[in-house]
Amino acid sequence: DTVDWDPEDAGKGEYDHYMLKEIHNQPTSLANTIEGRVEDGDVAFEALPPGSFDGIESVQFVACGTSYHAAMYGSQLVREAGIRADVLRASEYESTTGPVDETTLTIAVTQSGETADTLDALRTAADRGARTLAVTNVVGSTAAREADDAVYIRAGPEVGVAATKTYSSQAVTLALLSQRIAGDVPDATPADDRAAMLEALADLPEHVETVLESTHAETLAQDTLDSESFFFIGSGLGRSVALEGALKFKEITYEHAEGFAAGELKHGPLALVTEETPLFAVYTSGDDEKTKTNAIEAKSRGAPIVAVGPTDHPLVDVADAHLSVPETHPVWAGLLANVQLQLLSYHAAKQLERPIDKPRNLAKSVTVE
Ligand code: AGP
Repeated sequence: DTVDWDPEDAGKGEYDHYMLKEIHNQPTSLANTIEGRVEDGDVAFEALPPGSFDGIESVQFVACGTSYHAAMYGSQLVREAGIRADVLRASEYESTTGPVDETTLTIAVTQSGETADTLDALRTAADRGARTLAVTNVVGSTAAREADDAVYIRAGPEVGVAATKTYSSQAVTLALLSQRIAGDVPDATPADDRAAMLEALADLPEHVETVLESTHAETLAQDTLDSESFFFIGSGLGRSVALEGALKFKEITYEHAEGFAAGELKHGPLALVTEETPLFAVYTSGDDEKTKTNAIEAKSRGAPIVAVGPTDHPLVDVADAHLSVPETHPVWAGLLANVQLQLLSYHAAKQLERPIDKPRNLAKSVTVE
């Protein structure tokens, strides 16, 4: 007897799909991302010792898709450190960038290091005199070779077209980088609770493990599947997670999903909200007031509300369901919420029998503009 054997399937091990394997790999991949980068309560990057960012006055991030959402996460933390920071869609770089010169640090965030739009933006920034840095997963990729410097996210190979573990490793790398940059820029103010933030980071792999043990996302996927549309809202760091949650959901389920800044809901999208449109409200700290008030607004129009975040939060009381994550520093809570949303998308797509690892029309790395 012969058995059909697809060499590509061999690497999936006990998992039905690479995506699920990669979601479950996150405690390990995150530990690798962090290793050696927090020393004596400070952030250290071997390739970027103190003084590496001398002369930098502003930072711009360029990226596409999921990497753009990780860049949003990073740019907020750079801004919170008192440094001007913008996040630009690489495909729109020409028309959205402001003045660029040698005081600008342009950070290309790209898992593959081969995305044509991102490489194009990186080259344009370099031509205009910016200092360039690639944050990538692939050693020796074009972005890593062409940028002035490269930092690796160390997530390990990712086969699923839907980026999961690489998003988490990108966001953590960029959060650490924000503190490293702040150390070199005069007048920047590294987070005043930096010690607590870095201490909490050490627990992140274990906290992800806890999220992976919960089966709530799978049940919820089942309960909400025959809905018309799926909405995701959040504010601040929660906003980037909401956008990422919606992108992942549409990418692999083929269902209509959209992510909004919580405060934008009432400026148009609210017209779409009905009892057929579950709304996932992502939050990262106790002060996500906008997310709460807008979730209440959607609830009053009949939408089922799912709170996605730590348990000790007023949003949980207004929600119909809760995808919970362990208590942690607000900077990391969004990444745990995102793992819940990765599981939600995966289980929804599985129930719909979608080709999860290779969604239609999409490629892992988009090398055309
Ligand atoms: C993520 O799930 C997507 N497949 C896609 O948005 C991806 O993140 C984007 O194409 C950017 O790729 P890169 O990180 O390799 O540059």
